Amino acid sequence: MPDIGGAPVAKARLAILISGTGSNMAALLYASRLPDCPYEVVLVASNNPAAPGLALAAAEGVPTFARDHKGVPRADFDAILDAELTRAGVTHVALAGYMRLLSDGFVAHWAGRMVNIHPSLLPAHKGTHVHEAVLAAGERVTGATVHLVTPDLDGGPILGRVRVAVAPGDTAETLAARVHHAEHQLYPRVVAELVSREVRPEALLDRVRALALALPEAEERLTHGTPGFFVRGGTFFARWSANHHGDGRTAVLVKASGVEEQAALIEQDPELYFRPAYLGPAGWIGIRLDTGAVDWDHVEDWLTRSWRASAPKRLARLPI
Ligand code: GAR
Repeated sequence: MPDIGGAPVAKARLAILISGTGSNMAALLYASRLPDCPYEVVLVASNNPAAPGLALAAAEGVPTFARDHKGVPRADFDAILDAELTRAGVTHVALAGYMRLLSDGFVAHWAGRMVNIHPSLLPAHKGTHVHEAVLAAGERVTGATVHLVTPDLDGGPILGRVRVAVAPGDTAETLAARVHHAEHQLYPRVVAELVSREVRPEALLDRVRALALALPEAEERLTHGTPGFFVRGGTFFARWSANHHGDGRTAVLVKASGVEEQAALIEQDPELYFRPAYLGPAGWIGIRLDTGAVDWDHVEDWLTRSWRASAPKRLARLPI
């Protein structure tokens, strides 16, 4: 078994958007304070400055942002929100009773990293007045769903659902209260699964491997016990590095043009780049993958560049 490492990974930085009570926000927040939770709540934001959830978040010491959306065009409002999320270093967004449609641009920016909770077993009963609709239809079972947010309202890929029985004599209020209990169990678990899926060293290595092996005549072989990628007839162009000598980093190592570029890169972005042990003097550069928000296009560019520098001449000229 290759050692792909058990480097401690940075926690995902979650923003929660609310419009009202914020009980799901509270569930996410308190779950984040339990040991080993893979996310932390770094911002609670609202389009309703009077949302009770804001006061709770503030009392718990969580930074908040509130702005009334009235009179502000949707795209402008979402741009303001996006700027706040960026400022807070947010990596993932959870909508928790955020009762405002989001612009396509905002949704596209957070694609794959933004989730919503909805009080029904989706795809049944999208939209509002869900519990009334469940009761009117005489259904015996309802529930809650967490899904990725896409431009299709309440229609993105489902990440998790929990069932809730409709009890005799239930009203929309009693049903809503019970569905809330179920939501509070479901939401933290699904968010934790989503963010861990991305930051687990195994998942990161899978992604590096897929990009590296997509390059012409690239192959994988263990080097010093960890996965490395080389070009047939050429040399290694990428190496996996996870908690190497306990450095706490999960990274891919690639070839820069030399130690000068290596130093310039580290100076430009010391959070992202580092000088790897052993390969550092040879001009290799470490690109961290445990920052919580990997720019995979950037990683792919580096792999391609490093591949080119390592490939035999007949291949290095290939247009990729
Ligand atoms: C929750 O039941 C959530 O599922 C719902 O709003 C409620 C917010 O409660 N969201 C939607 O209907 C979205 N389509 P909370 O403020 O107490 O978390």
